[in-house]
Amino acid sequence: MNDEFNKAIELVNKYKQEHLLRFYHFLNNDKKSALINDILTIDFELIQNIYNKIRKNHIEEKENQFKPLIANSLKMYSDEEKNNFYKIGMNALANGKVAVYLVAGGQGTRLGHNGPKGTFDIGLPSRKSLFQLQCERLIYLSNKCKKYIPLYIMTSIENHHDTVSFFKEHNYFGYPKSMIMFFKQKTMPTINEDGKVLLSDENKIAMSPNGNGGCFVALKDSGALGDMKAKGIEWLFLYGIDNALVRVADPYFIGFTICSNKPAASKVVEKKYPEEKVGVLCYKNNKPAIVEYSEIPKNIASEVDQDGKLIYSNANILNHILSVDFIETIAGKPLPLHIAHKKIEYIDEHGKKILPINPNGYKFEYFLFDIFEMLDDMAALEVKREEEFAPVKNSEGEDSPQTAKELILNLHKKWLINAGVDNTTLKEKQIEISPLVSYYGDNLSGKSINEI
Ligand code: UD1
Repeated sequence: MNDEFNKAIELVNKYKQEHLLRFYHFLNNDKKSALINDILTIDFELIQNIYNKIRKNHIEEKENQFKPLIANSLKMYSDEEKNNFYKIGMNALANGKVAVYLVAGGQGTRLGHNGPKGTFDIGLPSRKSLFQLQCERLIYLSNKCKKYIPLYIMTSIENHHDTVSFFKEHNYFGYPKSMIMFFKQKTMPTINEDGKVLLSDENKIAMSPNGNGGCFVALKDSGALGDMKAKGIEWLFLYGIDNALVRVADPYFIGFTICSNKPAASKVVEKKYPEEKVGVLCYKNNKPAIVEYSEIPKNIASEVDQDGKLIYSNANILNHILSVDFIETIAGKPLPLHIAHKKIEYIDEHGKKILPINPNGYKFEYFLFDIFEMLDDMAALEVKREEEFAPVKNSEGEDSPQTAKELILNLHKKWLINAGVDNTTLKEKQIEISPLVSYYGDNLSGKSINEI
């Protein structure tokens, strides 16, 4: 312990972070060692370098060259080609070549939900949570291909316990427990506007999850990557929790990716307007890249063609397929850190908890899509927004539970009409079809409303 304490003293002195040990002598032994452990895990050199950049205000000074990336759309293919994608995708699932990786380390803070986002109920008639909707889509596919699809879930320090408990309480939504593996992403310290690492308690550094780009290191460190290799998994369907319409492990998308002969593919929808809060898939400096909404230059975001359509229109919906071989080569490679100016709770020099009303510091995050810049090329599949993208981000207004619910109910009504149900019988009715019955409007012909 003494050695470690001395190392910690050396570090905090070297990087002018002595305040971290301000309360040390008042702590009991357990708390002392927790604090020292935290200090020893921090990469102070990295934090100092980023802070110097923030101070000099020269983040992203580099002039980037952007070029549009043309996404394919299923509309471009004949029925035979589409069926072929489906068959290839289903075969890959049936042969155990595909796993699903859900990044769910984020909290529902923006939603006003105090818990993991996946536990949120968007107000559908069934009152199903996002986790349940997604697990049931997996069950449907697993039944269809007669093979359970392994599901890996990344959580964070903020929500690991609540996530695992929620699955347990709901009996894993009927999915076999042995097919699900939960593990935590790593954290990064937060700093104030003077570059000082913040304390959240007398013995705790104010850490925050290291962004969804922490998912590759987490995959490797948790043993999940090794587990995939041992199971012979070749492809990973990687997605985010907050899209109520996500087609988890979509066989068409899997088949499309395999046929593209590229190690990665992304699903995109058409971007609605220049300021929409979505990343844009394009080429950056001749490499495929997703440029986040917070970082895209205004002139690029708003550039239009002669018909007035956005040129950079591939909106990222956080649906990616990656080859496991590719993941193996990049897991552990350094990714760029993105900086966010945020409100961060901390304790002041008197040990008093402060809940700031305005941004008072910086959080650091890795973005998972930055790995695409390590590729020469990747495939992109454009899908219909109203069928596959129902973001649940804000408590009300745009991209809220209300808009996501309406998107689901409208789509499900459309499915029934396409399956031959008379539109007039559906007027004023709320139609929600269980994912256990239909994945994308299939399997509905001849069914009565009571059966769905
Ligand atoms: C994200 C995308 C954005 C895309 C939009 C679509 C990134 C970096 N941004 O933006 O390009 O257009 O979704 O809805 O992917 N997460 C973690 N750990 C973290 C932070 C987030 O697992 O530390 C997970 C969340 O649980 C969620 C996903 O990452 O599943 C995206 O979360 P968030 O960072 O809120 O994304 P957006 O800003 O909405």
